[in-house]
Amino acid sequence: MDSNKFQRALRLWRQHSGRHELPWLGQRSPYLIWVAEIMLQQTQVHTVQPYYRRFARSFPSLKALADAPLDKVLARWSGLGYYARARNLHRTAQLLRAEHSGRWPRSVAGLQALPGIGRSTAGAIAAAAFGQRGVILDGNVRRVLSRFAAVSGQPGTAATERQLWQLAEHYTPHRQSAEHNQAMMDLGATVCTRSTPNCPACPLRTACVAQRTGRVGDFPTPRRKRLSPLRRCHMLLIERPDGSVLLERRPTHGLWGGLYSLPETTSAQQPLAHYPELAACGIVAQGKWPVLHHSFTHFKLDIYPLWLRLARTPHSIAEHSEQLWYNAEVTELDLTVGLAAPVSDLLRRWRQRGAYGN
Ligand code: ADE
Repeated sequence: MDSNKFQRALRLWRQHSGRHELPWLGQRSPYLIWVAEIMLQQTQVHTVQPYYRRFARSFPSLKALADAPLDKVLARWSGLGYYARARNLHRTAQLLRAEHSGRWPRSVAGLQALPGIGRSTAGAIAAAAFGQRGVILDGNVRRVLSRFAAVSGQPGTAATERQLWQLAEHYTPHRQSAEHNQAMMDLGATVCTRSTPNCPACPLRTACVAQRTGRVGDFPTPRRKRLSPLRRCHMLLIERPDGSVLLERRPTHGLWGGLYSLPETTSAQQPLAHYPELAACGIVAQGKWPVLHHSFTHFKLDIYPLWLRLARTPHSIAEHSEQLWYNAEVTELDLTVGLAAPVSDLLRRWRQRGAYGN
């Protein structure tokens, strides 16, 4: 199938079967297009939508984002994961203001030079915000093209990447590439899905090599499974007499960087031996809560929560860190700091006390 036919079949398909209700579609503001594309890098469309709306309400412009404290940006990102994305958004907003007078670079290369914007995201923004030709290769497009051209290499290797980018370049039109990009993503998300593709509904089926040879299930080649190591930690819910619990800010770099979390020890450390000042404050009640399982890209974490009620307020349990006492009456949406998902879960359980017989 030549690229004109490919593009035409896709365009016609999108008119009746594309997704037209996504909140960032039809958006002309480069700022909001950028926010949506960054959220969509590692998170599914249905999860992103409420976050996108809230973020756009809290930070309606590049200036509003640049002016906001990082804690507030992380608070609006809480639960989306991959928090480097939020730190990069904030950094980029400040950088554009300081070095580009608040104006966006309009070219793919200029966009790609900004923190957190790779080749595909730069292509998506250049096309959707500036009407430039922008080529994308996100997860959905990878799957469609892998099947269409029966690309059999290991995902992520330089040779496979080169091949997929060549295909993406070849089939992307020079005009209206934003509409084409959206159609490719829509097709990948709704028809050429990972486990149950609906080939009879596909506008590309007559030319799709995987479909013609009965090998749709073989593409994209599955990634070799990496064994994910398991780590364990204790998280402490330290409750002082007024009924609030201690949160501490994590270092800006690294896991959950800049978010607030519960005090933590590794599983090998006895938590109470690690924080002797707690025993000195008089522990009036305590309880072990059920383990929480959390997955990161490269490892799994089992969290063993330990709840403690103290007779007196400790001055500080870790002198170096920024701390706050979280009050159960504050809902998470009012909170002006970011929380990692398992910490939110624990605080929710803690607000619904009784469930664990405390
Ligand atoms: N994934 C990345 N960008 C997207 C977009 N604009 N619409 C839907 N899914 C996407």
